[in-house]
Amino acid sequence: MSQQAQPLPEAAEPEAPHLDFAGTTPYEDYVQADVLTHLQHTLSDDPGEMVFLVTTQVMELWFTVIVHEWETAANALRSDDVPTAVAALKRSVRELEALNASWRPLGQLTPAQFNSYRSALGDGSGFQSAMYRRMEFLLGEKSASMLVPHRGAPRVHAELEKALHQPCLYDEVVHLLARRGHAIPASVLDRDVALRYEACAAVEAAWAEIYSGDQNAELARLGEALSDVAELVWRWRNDHLVATRRAMGAKTGTGGSAGVAWLEKRARKNVFPELWTARSHV
Ligand code: HEM
Repeated sequence: MSQQAQPLPEAAEPEAPHLDFAGTTPYEDYVQADVLTHLQHTLSDDPGEMVFLVTTQVMELWFTVIVHEWETAANALRSDDVPTAVAALKRSVRELEALNASWRPLGQLTPAQFNSYRSALGDGSGFQSAMYRRMEFLLGEKSASMLVPHRGAPRVHAELEKALHQPCLYDEVVHLLARRGHAIPASVLDRDVALRYEACAAVEAAWAEIYSGDQNAELARLGEALSDVAELVWRWRNDHLVATRRAMGAKTGTGGSAGVAWLEKRARKNVFPELWTARSHV
């Protein structure tokens, strides 16, 4: 007996999104997109300035997320919660990749294109970014003089001052190494945390020991997460340096520095120095 083909039941029309809201949409209440997309106050008539401003704003947002992750990691390390710290550091690695990818629209600016709006920027420079400074502070690149530009902005100044006097992410790492039995001298453990972290032979020896042991041990995995962070910060600095060299050659910066020559010196600074030098001893 031949089987009669049964028609499939008509698929129900999918429910459409809600349209009626008494006030602003719940999306707007959460994201504040109306605020965010009305913060693009360009200073020139040049159509290329918009992407310069928005890229800078996008980078500020990524700096904010990354500071949040590294503070989460530092707090977790303080309470010996290494898995939470590694998870936050790994999230920050993906975020650093996204941050670095946002150089793409600015990476090939020619001097003529940059000149079209450069003078409108006046003395404004990324050097004055407080959130970038908090990133550098968390990495151990502390300097009280970096607070000076922010004297006129009380909230920003207070946040930076607090960050200056707090142990950096790497201080928390080194304290953890000591609690896990590595011989870290008191001069490192009790250092003045408001000063730049200086590399130390005993910390290098601790990392060499960790890297010579079980590759899956908790501290080895922490070391690799920190190395990923350090590498991507180095890449941000170098992408910035190359973009600057393409856009303005050896001219002085809008922030008053020697420009490329100053940035070259900054880019040479090692992030978590002993994590790199220890590799020669494994
Ligand atoms: C291609 C466009 C850019 C050029 C030509 C440029 C140029 C410069 C120069 C010359 C400096 C040294 C300080 C000065 O004298 O101004 C500097 C510093 C800096 N810029 Fe840029 N910049 C560009 C894009 C950006 C963007 C999009 C950001 C994102 C926020 C940024 C963030 C920074 C930061 C954070 C510093 C300080 C670095 C440190 O303290 O080591 N720059 N920039």
